[in-house]
Amino acid sequence: MRIGLAGAGRIGAFHARTLAALDFVDELVVTDADLGAAKTLADELGADVAPDTEALLASGVDGFVIAAATPAHAPLLRQSIAAGVPTFCEKPVASTLAETIGLADLVASTGVQVHVGFQRRFDAGYRRARAAVESGELGFIHSIRANTHDQAPPHASYVPTSGGIFRDCNVHDFDILRFVTGREVASVYATGANKGADFFSAAGDVDTAGALLTLDDGTIALISSTRYNGAGHDVRMEVHGEKGTIAVGLDHSLAMRSAEEGVDFPRGPQKWSFMERFLPAYQAELTAFAEVVRGERTSPCTVRDALEASRIAEACELSRAERRPVALFEIKGI
Ligand SMILES: NC(=O)c1ccc[n+]([C@@H]2O[C@H](COP(=O)([O-])OP(=O)(O)OC[C@H]3O[C@@H](n4cnc5c(N)ncnc54)[C@H](O)[C@@H]3O)[C@@H](O)[C@H]2O)c1
Repeated sequence: MRIGLAGAGRIGAFHARTLAALDFVDELVVTDADLGAAKTLADELGADVAPDTEALLASGVDGFVIAAATPAHAPLLRQSIAAGVPTFCEKPVASTLAETIGLADLVASTGVQVHVGFQRRFDAGYRRARAAVESGELGFIHSIRANTHDQAPPHASYVPTSGGIFRDCNVHDFDILRFVTGREVASVYATGANKGADFFSAAGDVDTAGALLTLDDGTIALISSTRYNGAGHDVRMEVHGEKGTIAVGLDHSLAMRSAEEGVDFPRGPQKWSFMERFLPAYQAELTAFAEVVRGERTSPCTVRDALEASRIAEACELSRAERRPVALFEIKGI
């Protein structure tokens, strides 16, 4: 099959390398607003270059991958839906909730398959945790702890268009919380702090955040994030139940050390980036996208799913700004 890809930056180059290595991808064609970046990537992978997305779609592709900067997602998605091309879109689907709602409506009315890039749904640990919840082996679930702690901040220019730490970073925790528990979030109470570089506060953002979520069955979830976790990239989830607890990300690469004497856990080495942490999951999600393109399955993470995760992020931003608990019904849905 012939796959098109827009965006040759950090994640776009990474996805392009994954796609080029997959058996079922015969041809890859890439584009970027910076054509030099697209050409460098295409040369590395033996791919074609298109001058823009319009030309790329007109060249006849079976599937399209959007990995461009966030503000480009919604317009690019509208182009590929208009062309009837199954599309993989990196999170977030759009910069605003209103645009995301519009796109969810459009997808529903056209029936074009759109797969949103929440790769944790393809991580073996999170899938085991979901199975443990579903099978009932943990008994009833009463609380969950989850965190996304980046080892180092992104480049300063990324921050103003990122949407803020809840929309950019914790949105992954919000999506996977819904995926693992099968529940919806009823209310949130969130806060944040600026301990690091000034470019976060200059963009109205925080570099460290915490949120207390109550799910619709009363389960309590504590979620944290930071851009400054010097010990390594630390993404985890603990699901605590009546009969047991299961932990995702609890292995020897854990980015912390024990304060107890004689404990040789974790032995390391740590992981330093989301790409290292989730390499197999990124590969599995693009393999799943190829199955969507071939018509073998429907989207495993829909725009509707992305909308729900975005509503939780939106509620957290509002809670942080107004220093009060926010019920999800305050945030518009469809
Ligand atoms: N799922 C994940 O784990 C994950 C991880 C990192 C980034 N992302 C998402 O991927 C997107 C890209 O992030 P990044 O870190 O690669 O950013 P980046 O700044 O490194 O790269 C973005 C690229 O998009 C290009 N671009 C901008 N507008 C374009 C347009 N209209 N058409 C084509 N190309 C365009 C830029 O020239 C740049 O090369 C962001 O939306 C981000 O939220 C997701």
